[in-house]
Amino acid sequence: MSKANLLSGMQPSADSLHLGNYLGALNNWVAMQEEFNAYYMIADLHAITVPQDPKQLLANTRRTAAQYIAAGIDPNKSTLFIQSQVPAHAQLAWVLNCITGFGEASRMTQFKDKSQKADSDSASVGLFTYPVLQAADILLYQPKKVPVGEDQRQHLELTRDLAMRFNSRFGETFTIPEAHILKETAKIYDLQNPTAKMSKSNEPKGTINIMDDSSVTVKKIKGSVTDTDSEIRFDAENKAGVSNLLGIYSAVSGKSVKDLEAAFAGKGYGDLKTEVADAVIAVIEPIRQRATELLENTDELDSLLASGSARANELAEATLASVYDKIGLIPRS
Ligand code: TYM
Repeated sequence: MSKANLLSGMQPSADSLHLGNYLGALNNWVAMQEEFNAYYMIADLHAITVPQDPKQLLANTRRTAAQYIAAGIDPNKSTLFIQSQVPAHAQLAWVLNCITGFGEASRMTQFKDKSQKADSDSASVGLFTYPVLQAADILLYQPKKVPVGEDQRQHLELTRDLAMRFNSRFGETFTIPEAHILKETAKIYDLQNPTAKMSKSNEPKGTINIMDDSSVTVKKIKGSVTDTDSEIRFDAENKAGVSNLLGIYSAVSGKSVKDLEAAFAGKGYGDLKTEVADAVIAVIEPIRQRATELLENTDELDSLLASGSARANELAEATLASVYDKIGLIPRS
């Protein structure tokens, strides 16, 4: 039997992915590429929904691709591609925009958060229709699963609603995709503000970056916020900082939180931070090194991405052609 399809992506909106991107998504992508026919993209068109410096965007797109590969995405097993190199994404997004309610799009919490930060005059229409472009990204590849972190759940719900709406209005066209969210790593929190998710838009001190030097990572973890109590136990409500450290430690080491709690009985927060820092570095340092090597040859990286994009185009164009046909557009030839 042929493998089911899978799709996911990240925005190249910073010069490094952070630990939340890695544990919430990328690490699962690596595991899932064996079982699925996986499509992994770099969502550069999503990145421009907020202002980007063109030179920086170009560099960050390559840096993101290098980190995917360094983390274990194998371009021979998975189709690794750049969103803007597959025109069908923008084309299907337009069709989906036309079946999305204005109120429905207005309810997307990520838009509300980001547009509040940007203030309503500078928030773009692109930011408003961001989730619809995301739905197009997904539906073009007929995936069964979409591995993401918890913050993407609402966008996945919209994607499913749009797919069902299209299918019922125009006939069976899209597979209805499911979000694949691993409970343990669904949300990694900020080291300085452990009730907010780790994010590239937060203060750098609270975010562990894959491409940071190890000494910087150690410093950030040692300086993370804990509490005035001294007990090492998982209690997200009352001990958010310590619980986040335990969650991170568990995710990078594969040890259960329960075992970690037992191992740290009688020890202090300093011990916890030292061990977490060592365990995090053991995972991210090899990724940083490999990504740095890959970035030394951008021609090779670009051609690898171009061949992934060519492969992605085949399926994306076939889906788009079927959509255009169903809604009554005359074929080009
Ligand atoms: P982005 O770049 O903001 O996030 C990429 C992935 O990282 C996950 N993530 C986290 N997981 C756990 N803890 C955190 N603190 C954390 N921060 C981020 C996100 O859930 C995501 O899986 N809209 C998408 C990009 C996208 C996409 C798609 C994803 C565009 N098209 C199609 C799936 C399918 C996003 O927010 O990326």
